[in-house]
Amino acid sequence: MRKLIAGNWKMNGLVSSQAEIEALKGLTGSATCDIVVCPPFTLLDRAVERVKGSSLTIGAQDCHAQQSGAHTGDISAEMLADIGAHYVILGHSERRVAHGEDDAMVLEKAVAAHQAGLISIVCVGETRHERDEGRAIKVVDKQLRASVPEGATGQTLVIAYEPVWAIGTGLVPTNEQIEEMHAAIRQVLQERLGSDGHSVRILYGGSVKASNAEALFRLRNVDGALVGGASLKASEFAAVTLAAQTS
Ligand code: PGA
Repeated sequence: MRKLIAGNWKMNGLVSSQAEIEALKGLTGSATCDIVVCPPFTLLDRAVERVKGSSLTIGAQDCHAQQSGAHTGDISAEMLADIGAHYVILGHSERRVAHGEDDAMVLEKAVAAHQAGLISIVCVGETRHERDEGRAIKVVDKQLRASVPEGATGQTLVIAYEPVWAIGTGLVPTNEQIEEMHAAIRQVLQERLGSDGHSVRILYGGSVKASNAEALFRLRNVDGALVGGASLKASEFAAVTLAAQTS
């Protein structure tokens, strides 16, 4: 399966940060994996213009479930597609915690994203407490069943497994824990989506950086990465994409 490397800039980046995207274009010229950068809303339009003619694509970090209407401060999937974004991250744990997003809301947003022609990157993952209690797989199973839309395919959906305790902490699960979780996710996808479940890419996310990427990409059912901190510097992010191509 062709790997996908997605950079999540979170609430980082000013107009001057476009230089990182320009540098990335040079560093990832003939990449054999898909690469998407997800800057904040304020930079999306410029970023789409910047990557024209290159193999990079642009994604957003969230969207609203409705097409338009009285939703002050929100952005719809249609608006994102309209400016040329290709992907949208949905259900990131930071949004689940800070904005009270639940699985039902993530499902509605994913449906809206697919209707608008965007590829959704739906995030799932357990907390430290849930893992310590031995409930990690059960938690992720429930999140997946409640947030993956009927009829999704590898062309419309990507799953990102991001243990909450691994995000921004430098901690990474063991290889066995990642392979076990990704196998469980693959099974749910197949149950929900039939043969299309095979083609949905399952990314690992949480403290991915150039130094651990190659080993992660060799694991079974790891089809790429969702990268936070290490995506902010073009050289580091390019190194992660390089690891995807050599492993
Ligand atoms: P991190 O973040 O790579 O900084 O751990 C990943 C994410 O939250 O998507």
